[in-house]
Amino acid sequence: MRRLPWALLLPLQLVLLVVTRAPEAPVSAPRSLVWGPGLQAGVVLPVRYFYLQAVSSEGQNLTRSPPGQTLFKVVVKSLSPKELVRIHVPKPLDRNDGTFLIRYRMYETVIEGLKIDILYGDEHVAQSPYILKGPVYHEYCDCPEENPQTWQKTLSCPTEEPQIAKDFASFPSINLQQMLTEVPKRFGDERGAIVHYTILKNHIYRRSLGKYTDFKMFSDEILLSLARKVLLPDLEFYINLGDWPLEHRKVNETPGPLPIISWCGSLDSRDVILPTYDVTHSTLEAMRGVTNDLLSIQGNTGPSWINKTEKAFFRGRDSREERLQLVQLSKENPQLLDAGITGYFFFQEKEKELGKAKLIGFFDFFQYKYQVNVDGTVAAYRYPYLMLGDSLVLKQDSPYYEHFYMALMPWKHYVPIKRNLGDLLEKIKWAKENDEEAKRIAKEGQLTARDLLQPHRLYCYYYGVLQKYAERQSSKPEIREGMELVPQPDDNTSFCQCHRKRPSREEL
Ligand SMILES: *[C@@H]1O[C@H](CO)[C@@H](O)[C@H](O)[C@H]1NC(C)=O
Ligand SMILES: *[C@@H]1O[C@H](CO)[C@@H](O)[C@H](O)[C@H]1NC(C)=O
Ligand SMILES: *[C@@H]1O[C@H](CO)[C@@H](O)[C@H](O)[C@H]1NC(C)=O
Repeated sequence: MRRLPWALLLPLQLVLLVVTRAPEAPVSAPRSLVWGPGLQAGVVLPVRYFYLQAVSSEGQNLTRSPPGQTLFKVVVKSLSPKELVRIHVPKPLDRNDGTFLIRYRMYETVIEGLKIDILYGDEHVAQSPYILKGPVYHEYCDCPEENPQTWQKTLSCPTEEPQIAKDFASFPSINLQQMLTEVPKRFGDERGAIVHYTILKNHIYRRSLGKYTDFKMFSDEILLSLARKVLLPDLEFYINLGDWPLEHRKVNETPGPLPIISWCGSLDSRDVILPTYDVTHSTLEAMRGVTNDLLSIQGNTGPSWINKTEKAFFRGRDSREERLQLVQLSKENPQLLDAGITGYFFFQEKEKELGKAKLIGFFDFFQYKYQVNVDGTVAAYRYPYLMLGDSLVLKQDSPYYEHFYMALMPWKHYVPIKRNLGDLLEKIKWAKENDEEAKRIAKEGQLTARDLLQPHRLYCYYYGVLQKYAERQSSKPEIREGMELVPQPDDNTSFCQCHRKRPSREEL
């Protein structure tokens, strides 16, 4: 241990005294609040989750982590001692603002039910223990709810998603016959990334139209996951697995645009969009190998605002020229910006000049107060994760968008920067000089993102798109030549007895 000079020690002791004397409101276990979809048996998700707000004995919400050594602890067990199930319950995620996020993954179904104990020290929190009356299905139990409205109600799906409404406004009616003749011709070449799906009686069939269709593993997994939870409408559609949206025809042109489904939208295309494969896959595989997902990020946002490094930060690949400009700016203004390219592919000749930055874990991005979001080939798929952090996001203006962007406003949820980054330095200076305002925008952005990007809402969104599409089909979907059945994953080691009436199934 280093020796401190006495002159320093004395004031330090005084400060410590003041800190320990400050009235730190202790947590009241019974007054604390617990809520969320993971407390409902009917909300089947890969990872179930709920929230906890620590409340003081005076009834005030805590706004930072509770002081002291006492911890919140959660135990999730089968209600019946006869049913042995594997359930993984990691430690609650401390969101560093007085709230916690609790996750659990079930590897089997329980028939009688679940008991969830939530403890603070040895005291029960809120209405703990929570009893979830069974059956409580696990992710891989193939047991779709027959009535979509019931399912949507159980998940509290929003009645309207503005992006879905906007996307389908261009397509009052969907002519499958026309799609069948035009899509392969227009988009189905060798180098294409189009997969043609048909869903019939909750079975999924597909054929690939191009060579670059490996990403169908992502569309397959979410469609199968949905089909295990809810009866899907009969459908026939084309999904574009490439980066760029495809349909550039205008609505008033003849022939008009086709409703190609893509993961990213742009202002000059008409593609119908879904949540990106990135947020979807990380949601499905959270706590099973994926570590950066919409939930885990929330408990890993680095130091509190006042302790973050007061610089803007960027690390990423060289997928767009502005990213290189960002590094140049950073070299010239190291006191404002720390930007680096971690991998060269598109601009390999630049590596010598700009250098390669070491990879850094995503959670460590939040050591910095400001995060720069610059497009990659299309929208930067890190944006949802950045918004879930507690740093201020500086977002490059962009024609590209994902399914949730519509709800986020410049100066309310993030700070906009010009596409050519011309005002980036100015905006960083603004944030440094207006710390309160910057912090407020960061918080508002984070709270809105937490609400919009809840995993159960991804499921709502997917279903919403399939439903709107189905309503507009002017003929019956069919299994086309060359299509193959995409089977549900084998889950024969887990117990799963579906108590719902199954829809009638026809074998292929
Ligand atoms: C306390 O927190 C809960 C949950 O975060 C919130 O709904 C409620 O409005 C808060 N109460 C006050 C007085 O801020
Ligand atoms: C900031 O960091 C200091 C030193 O590590 C720590 O004592 C303090 O609690 C931190 N402040 C907040 C608000 O987290
Ligand atoms: C369960 O699945 C595994 C892997 O597909 C297979 O090898 C095994 O034979 C199956 N067992 C039963 C009882 O079906």
